[in-house]
Amino acid sequence: MVPSFPQPASAAAATRPIPGSYGPPLLGPLRDRLDYFWFQGPDDFFRRRAADHKSTVFRANIPPTFPFFLGVDPRVVAVVDAAAFTALFDPALVDKRDVLIGPYVPSLAFTRGTRVGVYLDTQDPDHARTKAFSIDLLRRAARNWAAELRAAVDDMLAAVEEDLNRAPDPAAASASYLIPLQKCIFRFLCKALVGADPAADGLVDRFGVYILDVWLALQLVPTQKVGVIPQPLEELLFHSFPLPSFVVKPGYDLLYRFVEKHGAAAVSIAEKEHGISKEEAINNILFVLGFNAFGGFSVFLPFLVMEVGKPGRDDLRRRLQEEVRRVLGGGDGGKAGFAAVREMALVRSTVYEVLRMQPPVPLQFGRARRDFVLRSHGGAAYEVGKGELLCGYQPLAMRDPAVFDRPEEFVPERFLGDDGEALLQYVYWSNGPETGEPSPGNKQCAAKEVVVATACMLVAELFRRYDDFECDGTSFTKLDKRELTPS
Ligand code: HEM
Repeated sequence: MVPSFPQPASAAAATRPIPGSYGPPLLGPLRDRLDYFWFQGPDDFFRRRAADHKSTVFRANIPPTFPFFLGVDPRVVAVVDAAAFTALFDPALVDKRDVLIGPYVPSLAFTRGTRVGVYLDTQDPDHARTKAFSIDLLRRAARNWAAELRAAVDDMLAAVEEDLNRAPDPAAASASYLIPLQKCIFRFLCKALVGADPAADGLVDRFGVYILDVWLALQLVPTQKVGVIPQPLEELLFHSFPLPSFVVKPGYDLLYRFVEKHGAAAVSIAEKEHGISKEEAINNILFVLGFNAFGGFSVFLPFLVMEVGKPGRDDLRRRLQEEVRRVLGGGDGGKAGFAAVREMALVRSTVYEVLRMQPPVPLQFGRARRDFVLRSHGGAAYEVGKGELLCGYQPLAMRDPAVFDRPEEFVPERFLGDDGEALLQYVYWSNGPETGEPSPGNKQCAAKEVVVATACMLVAELFRRYDDFECDGTSFTKLDKRELTPS
């Protein structure tokens, strides 16, 4: 069911006021914050308000707020349908400066004073420079990407297998893949993207992953539901004030020196070919490496392995395994690289479906450059005022029943065939349609293609190596090694 809604978001139309209110000062934002983190959770927060207002565009407050987030204005225009969401991708309509994670901007001290490209708007000339540099890094990385990924996945699976085999009772065996997967992601990204091998620096090798985890957490926790301590404490300790950067400064400095020394070739490309100073280059590399790439994959790949490995999905796994082995050829020889995974239609469709249902970066923000009319399905139109902050919630926009059949169901073959491919324009995980192209002139993820291909390669590696596997959440409970039949 493919609608024809994309209309110019600025065309004149009969508009209606945006429903919803921000409530009384302090109390309204506080109530919404507690709903968001505690009483409802993000998904319910957006669903209930859309249902109450009978509208997929409405006003709400988004955390963090109150009492110590001074100068952070939590008022947003929430957008939760596939049609209106496209306004967030239009550089003519929205300003993306300082809105990566919402109205709250973590201290620049997290990046030694550099405002990295991801926080810049398309109209800032430094954005084009840093974006072009990221695209360039990825292009150069393509040569070694698949081989580095396979090597790191190999180490990860060897570690997980060992863990699983150690279990005294094989029937109840279980081995967490979270930390091994993060180590794998860190290692292959450092080598492929930055050309720096963590093994060259003992401290980075041992602690790099944990440094990045802490660095990410300190920036993101004020905006995230964490769920590891009782909620009242979480509200008090994690959601009431900006978290300090000095805690992780020694770790960040260690990574800075690592990139300076072992990633010197990448830094020099930034300086010589993109006119970026050395310090800004290193901070941008660390942000893309640590936040975009390591952070993004650390969320997305566990979702993917968990979905494919769910108990009861044996039939899906059998079909994926057949496809992977057919494309890679018989025996154990075939290698999953960019070309091979392009031919794995079901693997690809499954990856898109995971990205549709569980987008790793669920919220997108953009500030209206001017007054404009925001269009939604069925001619609905809303007046947005200059300076208002749009907040798109992808998990609902990508379950929009006007676009997707059985929107709440995991349908791995959804994107197969011509009709399936036509739906890719509504897959927004990369901050743009899956049919779009990242460029220095827009804010779409520089690694849009690479992320999907990497996910496909991971699935392919799993089925090259195992006849079947199963997961319970983020642990493997079964890894059936492939039986190689002698030819
Ligand atoms: C699963 C992994 C990833 C996910 C989910 C992801 C997602 C995203 C999203 C949603 C944005 C837009 C943020 C916004 O402005 O609202 C973005 C931007 C960006 N991503 Fe990714 N990303 C991933 C991996 C990567 C990797 C591997 C790179 C490596 C170069 C990368 C580089 C970038 C850059 C440079 C931007 C900024 C674009 C701009 O400022 O115009 N991302 N990413």
